[in-house]
Amino acid sequence: MSEFLLDVKNVKTHFFTDKGVVKAVDGVDFKIKKGETLGIVGESGSGKSVTSMSVMQLVEEPGKTIEGAIKFKGEDLLQKTTEEMQTIRGNEISMIFQEPMTSLNPVFKVGEQIMEVLMLHQDMSREEAKNKAIEMLKIVGIPRAERVVDDYPHQLSGGMRQRVMIAMALACEPSLLIADEPTTALDVTIQAQILQLMNELKKKLGTAIMLITHDLGVVAQMADHVIVMYCGKVVEDAPVEELFENPSHPYTKGLMKSIPSLDDDKRRLDSIEGMVPHPLRLPKGCYFEPRCPYAIEKCKTHKPELKEIASGHKVSCFVATEEVR
Ligand SMILES: Nc1ncnc2c1ncn2[C@@H]1O[C@H](COP(=O)(O)OP(=O)(O)OP(=O)(O)O)[C@@H](O)[C@H]1O
Ligand SMILES: [Mg+2]
Repeated sequence: MSEFLLDVKNVKTHFFTDKGVVKAVDGVDFKIKKGETLGIVGESGSGKSVTSMSVMQLVEEPGKTIEGAIKFKGEDLLQKTTEEMQTIRGNEISMIFQEPMTSLNPVFKVGEQIMEVLMLHQDMSREEAKNKAIEMLKIVGIPRAERVVDDYPHQLSGGMRQRVMIAMALACEPSLLIADEPTTALDVTIQAQILQLMNELKKKLGTAIMLITHDLGVVAQMADHVIVMYCGKVVEDAPVEELFENPSHPYTKGLMKSIPSLDDDKRRLDSIEGMVPHPLRLPKGCYFEPRCPYAIEKCKTHKPELKEIASGHKVSCFVATEEVR
């Protein structure tokens, strides 16, 4: 078996709308090793969530994954039946979302919700499941877990609810956790605590994490490897240190500049000029060309491909790869 837990190749997920085809994910490649954290960054609309929904196969109409392969433990998820995918989801691959209130059911006690996952996927009795639920609540750092297990979601703070979500996602000890902006809705201190918790759990349980965020600071703290997405494509792919030391795509450089610096009193957010193009009116050449300070003639007419510029570091930019002719 390959050393990769997840191997995504040339995945295309398009939305067939009345107005035209939105190529939300358009030929995306990435790999995640066992126990590794892959950060996926990019501005709003770049296709991060659709990428994760494609892996989970939860893309809804009018969207469809029309091409590619998503190999998980060597088997292509795109070839699995609906029933097989249901077994994999929550059991081997689980997901946490931005807003825990939307994923926790308000009418059931938090313990019941964790127990349900365990009874469904792991065939546990109620009693076994309750003990395991309490253990999971303890693992994610919830004080008085024996009491909280009988609380309803609304009785908990946002940070505690997010911990419950993580407990639920990790209850079956999945080998891959997909976290889509898991801390965006939380305040900064709680955000830091949750990220630290995810890092500890990753070390303890060996869970690989696919972490989606628009925040490069979070990537620096969490990821081993990073892909940068723009308009449904991967524009840069590198180990985290390499990305921060040698950002090579002009878009990545732009994102780096927009990280607010703590020692800068002005805390100025130097965001990238211009707007993400409309998905139905994408530029003819490189999608970033209209906003790119380094663009040359060729960028207007030709689309760059991902090319390796250093070991494990790929970038799709004519200027960065010096294909200027
Ligand atoms: N149901 C849908 N119908 C049509 N287009 C869609 C649908 N869902 C997503 N898209 C489009 O797919 C593209 C990628 O969306 P996606 O939600 O993956 O972006 P994102 O990177 O997760 O952004 P954000 O940071 O805002 O969460 C966008 O252009 C979006 O408009
Ligand atoms: Mg999203």
